[in-house]
Amino acid sequence: MAKDVKTMKGDTKWFVHDRFGLFVHWGVYAMAGRHEWVKHHEKIPNEVYDAKYFSRFDPDLYDPNAWAQAASNAGMKYFVITTKHHEGFCLWDTKLTDYKAPNTPAQRDLLRPMVEAFRKRDMRVGFYHSLIDWHHPQYILDKYHGPYRDHADREKMNVGRDQKKYAAYLHGQVRELLTKFGKVDVLWLDYSYPKPDGSGKGRDDWQSDKLLKLVRTLQPNIVLNDRMDLPYGFDIKTPEQFQPREWVKVDGKPVVWEACQTFSGSWGYHRDEMTWRSVDELIRTLIDCVSKGGNLLLNVGPTGRGEFDDRAMARLAGMGEWMKRHGRAIYGCTQAPDEFKCPQDCRLTYNPEKKRLYVHVLAWPYKHLYLDGEAYTQRVAYAQLLNDGSEIKVGMDPWHGTQAGDTVKRTVTLTLPPQRPNVTVPVIELFLKG
Ligand code: GLC
Repeated sequence: MAKDVKTMKGDTKWFVHDRFGLFVHWGVYAMAGRHEWVKHHEKIPNEVYDAKYFSRFDPDLYDPNAWAQAASNAGMKYFVITTKHHEGFCLWDTKLTDYKAPNTPAQRDLLRPMVEAFRKRDMRVGFYHSLIDWHHPQYILDKYHGPYRDHADREKMNVGRDQKKYAAYLHGQVRELLTKFGKVDVLWLDYSYPKPDGSGKGRDDWQSDKLLKLVRTLQPNIVLNDRMDLPYGFDIKTPEQFQPREWVKVDGKPVVWEACQTFSGSWGYHRDEMTWRSVDELIRTLIDCVSKGGNLLLNVGPTGRGEFDDRAMARLAGMGEWMKRHGRAIYGCTQAPDEFKCPQDCRLTYNPEKKRLYVHVLAWPYKHLYLDGEAYTQRVAYAQLLNDGSEIKVGMDPWHGTQAGDTVKRTVTLTLPPQRPNVTVPVIELFLKG
């Protein structure tokens, strides 16, 4: 009997090990430099958008090897690139539309060399492909999204359009992406907005069941996200631009999840956006994800000339500095078992294979860190600072011990150096018995 596609699952083993990936949003909107939704926000008609941006898109500084190297140095293990975003522009040499990079002054397929550059550095490959399309001539213009959403002639403009034909185009493109680039590890389809009255767009508009089948047939191991408006068939949940407060659950059960976030609020290159987050905040976010059993997909929006700008580069480098010494507390790690109570001002991550527990110390305490409960008293065998592998004394000196009284009996007390290690977030590695 044929397998039920609804219950088929991709391979998430590598995914929950690797934990940290790069999202890249790159399209002709990079030239506007004010959000990938600029066409929608400013209601820019197709002709104007294309005359300004598509006809001038010339990323002469594009060096996919530099991108891949920056990501790899940051400690990222996979990447997800927008093969097409809502604007409809395609980065690769698709046979199904002229609206593609080879027809801009770039004059070439921009996707293929990118895939090769990341693979060369042992990074997994993911494609983000927009379900939404503000350019395709068969796509029904609705009242919610796109430059024509409240255009007086919208209904008239829909005459002769056939959403089924658009869905066929969408499926054809997904087929190209999943057959012409070798093994694809992640597919990120974005997104649905069905409304109770049948307006908006969802599974019927994308022919999602058929699409799911196509994806599972072409690349059975692919990790598929959750945005095509089907209550089944996905491998990962994708909380966007916020931190879940606990391990993400569906029907009460923990699932594989990945938070996706930006440095500054925009996914596409945004020149004037000033709310960039610091390296410190970004590292805390990564730690927070892993401490709740999740991944972080962190976004860069390259410029119209094809570079990661200096703000992005500085943050990637800063994260890389930390990851170089603390990657062990991220890769292969997950939420700690419940019996290990998280100490004050800390986060815990845990490597079940190596039986090591990582205490990420967000605020450095004076002298002592208390690990409460039997799980600690019975299982902690050795402790060290992760950044330099220097021993951390387990226990209190007797003089302080007598002053502390009874509380220390149920506690493993770590005696910390008075000077906080000079790293963004210090981590203590605990070797566990048993
Ligand atoms: C949203 C936005 C979008 C971005 C994406 C990333 O759905 O439409 O611009 O690509 O989320 O998660």
